[in-house]
Amino acid sequence: MTVILAIESSCDESAVAIVRGGAGRAAEVLASVVFSQIDLHREHGGVVPELASRNHSLRLRDLVEKALLDAGTAIGDIDAFAATTGPGLASSLLIGSTAAKGMACALNRPFLGINHLEGHLLSPFLARSLVPPHVALIVSGGHTLLMDVEGPGRYRRLGGTRDDAAGEAFDKVGKMLGLAYPGGPAIELAARAGNPQAYDFPRSMLHDAHLDFSFSGLKTAVLYTLQRAGGVVSVADLAASFQQAVIDILVGKTLRAARQTGRRIIGLSGGVSLNRALRGALQQACGQGGLELATAAADFCTDNAAMIGFAALLRHLAGESSPLAEDIHPHLPLL
Ligand code: KG4
Ligand code: ZN
Repeated sequence: MTVILAIESSCDESAVAIVRGGAGRAAEVLASVVFSQIDLHREHGGVVPELASRNHSLRLRDLVEKALLDAGTAIGDIDAFAATTGPGLASSLLIGSTAAKGMACALNRPFLGINHLEGHLLSPFLARSLVPPHVALIVSGGHTLLMDVEGPGRYRRLGGTRDDAAGEAFDKVGKMLGLAYPGGPAIELAARAGNPQAYDFPRSMLHDAHLDFSFSGLKTAVLYTLQRAGGVVSVADLAASFQQAVIDILVGKTLRAARQTGRRIIGLSGGVSLNRALRGALQQACGQGGLELATAAADFCTDNAAMIGFAALLRHLAGESSPLAEDIHPHLPLL
């Protein structure tokens, strides 16, 4: 069995996890600790990079010790150290990857630099022993991606957003509506009391044959609606109608991707995948199309280190490692 200690620090979550596994065995998360900096960034209405990196460096040591304690593991029993090396905020990526490299160097163990998006993509399959061929929809604050997955490490980009990410649209519309930061969970809550048909917002590119997304027109449509109404609107109706438009676009494009590739399994991951209305709609559409939907456990949807540890475990078992001199890659694509 192999034990990996992984660090995630690409944005505003400082996270450490310890994951154990072996060839053909389901991975076990022995520990997963996350310090969310959301409260620190809330007053600024978004993530402040320097505040984020300072807090990663302040928190990581305690988080590593807590994870080792939770897992009942001594640091000497760790077989490899991993960290997210991109994409993300440069100064934040540097803290986590330098910490993991330091431990790898001190204990003479391999280091693995992991792509944050690969972590999200693999997260629905963490508790299984294999990653099946599937279509992956990754929806987070920074990314909206459709990938064709043959197996671990074998990915083909099918499409992605041409402007805002789905989570970014939730966050910006949340701000316009005066809701709490981050906007995603706040919009989901407000939408429960609203009518999703109250406003007919655009579903950009939904009927185009390609698999790209665009959410900026939708965001602007919400803004114009607010301006026209002089701010006197039902926040619940606006939130519900906006959320429904995002869901229709995501579900429509994902099913189109499944039809085009012939895949029978959909993997849904990323912070926006916590949205219950989205999960419900995608589950229903998959059911009607005879497809299986795989989602990550709630703790592993938003940024966490368990998904990074799982990606690192699969790469380690495949005989891979990264040089200690490997740089961070703030704009790293998944391919
Ligand atoms: O994956 P994640 O933690 O970080 C990135 O890698 O970006 O995703 C954070 C995003 C934020 O935009 C947040 O508003 C969104 O996920 N989010 C949600 C919900 N919970 C988090 N969006 C819609 N509905 C939710 N319930
Ligand atoms: Zn993420």
